[in-house]
This record gives sequence, structure tokens and C-alpha cells, in this order.
Amino acid sequence: MAPDDQALVSRRRIFVTMPMRCQESGQSEGGAAVGRSLQLDYSKVRAYWGHAKPSMLGPYMMDGFGFPASAGRFRFRGELNAVAEAVKDLRSSISVLDFGSGVGAWTEYFAQRFANVVSVEASPTLYAALKDRCSRYPNVVTFGGDVLSFQPKGRFGLVFLGGLLMYLDEHDVRVLLSKLVSCLEPDAIVLCRESTIRQGTKTLQGNYQVVYRSVETYQSIFSAAGFDVVSVEANVAYLYPQMACELVKKWKARVPERFWCLPVIGRLVYWGLRLGYPWNTKLIPRLLAKLGREFPVLTNHFFVLRPSSHATVAQREASVRSARIAEERPLSAC
Ligand SMILES: C[S@@+](CC[C@H](N)C(=O)[O-])C[C@H]1O[C@@H](n2cnc3c(N)ncnc32)[C@H](O)[C@@H]1O
Repeated sequence: MAPDDQALVSRRRIFVTMPMRCQESGQSEGGAAVGRSLQLDYSKVRAYWGHAKPSMLGPYMMDGFGFPASAGRFRFRGELNAVAEAVKDLRSSISVLDFGSGVGAWTEYFAQRFANVVSVEASPTLYAALKDRCSRYPNVVTFGGDVLSFQPKGRFGLVFLGGLLMYLDEHDVRVLLSKLVSCLEPDAIVLCRESTIRQGTKTLQGNYQVVYRSVETYQSIFSAAGFDVVSVEANVAYLYPQMACELVKKWKARVPERFWCLPVIGRLVYWGLRLGYPWNTKLIPRLLAKLGREFPVLTNHFFVLRPSSHATVAQREASVRSARIAEERPLSAC
């Protein structure tokens, strides 16, 4: 698909100076609202991501814990199994849309498997890394800007939303999904990977702004946007790095900074958990659940969606309407 075949990102939203950092595992800075969904301050989301280090650790929010650089690659390889399984029945001739593509690890994977990939990333630093990584793939077209103002052209057999929806308010999640309906091939899937909590919704305010939703909350949002949830699968590769993050965070909270010794403590915790992987990701949470403790606090799931065959005409019309409104919205995210 040639670049000019693509709808261009709204001029207002392309590369607004937008500092952002890719953190997915749940840094709890600032206040948190549990059970109700506060509005995200998108300028803070942008500010956070704009400072992201263009590495494999950054997009997985594993920076700053003293983990080895290989930790990001190990998680990526673990997730590959789940993604490969989800896309195994898709034809290699399809086009893929990768929204919020970070440094482009998944874009690169899709470029090797499918005919065309269109990637949209809002953080200038991550976008630069994405472009660089994908420059050797003639079948990849990249856009720097906000997914909410990006108007896809053509038909896509796969849309990948890897850790994106948690940076969008519920209204914008619905608008985004609604916009996708009209550009999906009949047998297309939308594959989402999102950090989740066990119940309800938790919105972090402060410098790191994010919404964590339960699987049930996502399911009802997806269904309201006119999608059927074909499958939900726990992201096992996420669990032990998240356990390591939460343990090191506890260490940081209890010990004065001068004694943190992160390169030592971080590696000890990381390798300790990795040696017991994958058994410890089942045993430890189960044992702690018996003691009434949730650990890790955050989980992560893959959701496979298809446009609902039962979506009502009214729902579909609402989808088109909200997509139009989205096009007219002023710059509000990333
Ligand atoms: C958790 S990272 C995931 C990156 C990549 N999808 C992956 O799986 O490794 C989320 C990404 O979404 C991007 N992002 C967040 N909000 C966005 C928006 N409104 N438009 C475009 N990109 C956005 C961030 O800059 C970041 O690169």
C-alpha cells in the first residue's frame, strides 16, 4: 500500500511536541481513582511518552528497575507465541494496521508475515526508532501522530492495538474502534493487548496517566463498540516481569535511595523470578491469593475481536457518526 494511498494524519496532530514515555506495567505515580473512570489528561500522557527511551525495555515499562536489557526481548519472545497463535489463520496477503506501535518490534514482525503494514505512533522518539527499524521493509508505511485523528484508507485483515487502549478514555476507545469497523475485511480480527486489573477501573492521575480496566470492563466496551470478543487470553509472558517490577517498587519505597543498588537488586529479583518461570507465575499469585493478597496487582490480557454480526443498524450508524466527530475533534491526545 503506497503512502499516498493512506489517509494522512490530521495536520493538527502530527508531531505536536509530545514528550511521552512507554510504560505499561503500571507505575502508580500521583493519585489513583478506583472504580470510576476519570478523564485522562492527554497532555500528560504525551509528556510521559515523549521521553521514552527507544529500547525494548521502555515500551514494556521495565526501565528504571535494574533489569538486564535482555528482559524486554525475553518478554517479546514470550508474547510472540500468543500473537502467532492469534494470527495463524490470517492470509499472508492482508494489510495490517499497527496503532501505537512504539519502536516497531511488532510492526517488523507483521512486515515479515503479511503483505503490508501501516503503523502509527505518536511519540517522536519512538517514531524515529520505528522508522529506522522498518526502513528496510518496503511493505511498511509509518505515520507519526495521534491514532485518534488518523483516518485509515483501504481494508485491513488485522489491527494490532498493543498497550494502547489504556492511554485512551473510554469514549475515545469506542470512537477508535468504531472507526475501525468500516476499514476491516470481512474476516478481519482486532488483536488487543492491555494491562488489566481484577475488577472495575482504576485511573492513575499525576505524571503517569493511564486507565487500567478489568477484563469485564473491556468486554463491555468492545461490545458497546460493535465487536464480539472471540477470545481472551492471559498474557503469561507479562506476569513475571510485572512481579519483578512490583517487588523492586516495594524495595524502592521502603529503602532510602542511596541503598537501592538497583543494578544488583533488580537483576537478583529478575533472574530469581525468571529461573522459576513459568511455574512461579502460577504458584506465587495463587499462594498469595489464599492469604488475601493480589500479586501482581496488574495483569495483562490478549483480546481477539471481530465486528459483531449482531451489531444493530443503529450501532453501526453511531459508529460512523462517532468516527466523523473524531475527525473534527481538536488535538487532544498524543
Ligand atoms: C505500551 S506502548 C506499546 C508499544 C507497542 N505497541 C508494543 O506493543 O510494544 C504504547 C504506545 O502507544 C503510543 N500511544 C499512546 N497513545 C497514543 C495515541 N493517542 N496515538 C498514537 N500513539 C499512542 C505510545 O507512544 C507508545 O508507543
